[in-house]
Parts: sequence; C-alpha cells; structure tokens
Amino acid sequence: MTTATGTWTKVGVVGDLTPGEGRTYVVAGSQVAVFLLADGTLRATAAVCPHRGGPLADGQIDGAVVVCPLHQYAFSLDTGICADNVGAVAVFPARVVADAIEIGVPGA
Ligand code: FES
Repeated sequence: MTTATGTWTKVGVVGDLTPGEGRTYVVAGSQVAVFLLADGTLRATAAVCPHRGGPLADGQIDGAVVVCPLHQYAFSLDTGICADNVGAVAVFPARVVADAIEIGVPGA
C-alpha cells in the first residue's frame, strides 16, 4: 500500500512502544523516531534533531511536541516545526494496523 508520498512500511508492533516515549526504527535507510501518545495514536519524525543531532526518540513528549534531550528545543510532532526557529524536523505519517506500526516514508 502507498501513501500520498511513499509506501507504508511495517517497522514493529505497537506493544513494543511505551505510551509517552519514543523509539527509533530504520526505514529505507533512514532513522525514524516513533512516539506513542497517551491517546493511542502514533507520531513519527526523523530521529536526528535538526539543531545539533540530538536523539529525538529519547526526548520527552509534552503535549503535541517532543523536547530534544540535548538542548531542550521543542518540535511539533504534527508539523516538525520548532517555535524557537532552530529548524524543523521531518515528520512522517504513522498508523497502527492490526497491532503493526506502519510508517509512510517517501521513497520507502
Ligand atoms: S541537538 Fe536537539 S536541541 Fe540541540
């Protein structure tokens, strides 16, 4: 199956995730951080912080943002935009299908 921008790729099962935390997967050669929100929905971003390369999957989720563990800049989990203007992180479609985590990454 394809998304508007690429192909859905199964990366694991939702039981591997802890609500409120992130985990990094490799999709089509790129590291993708996947977050399970408290409402059971998923968000996916590039795993590397655009500021200075911090590991976003290790960041804290605060509402609809992830806070990078290195310098505490916050990036929207929906748009990837940082309100402090240090750049934006790529965001990807993410869904759960029969307990499988699927990520839509361009070119995958
Ligand atoms: S490396 Fe992420 S905020 Fe600096």
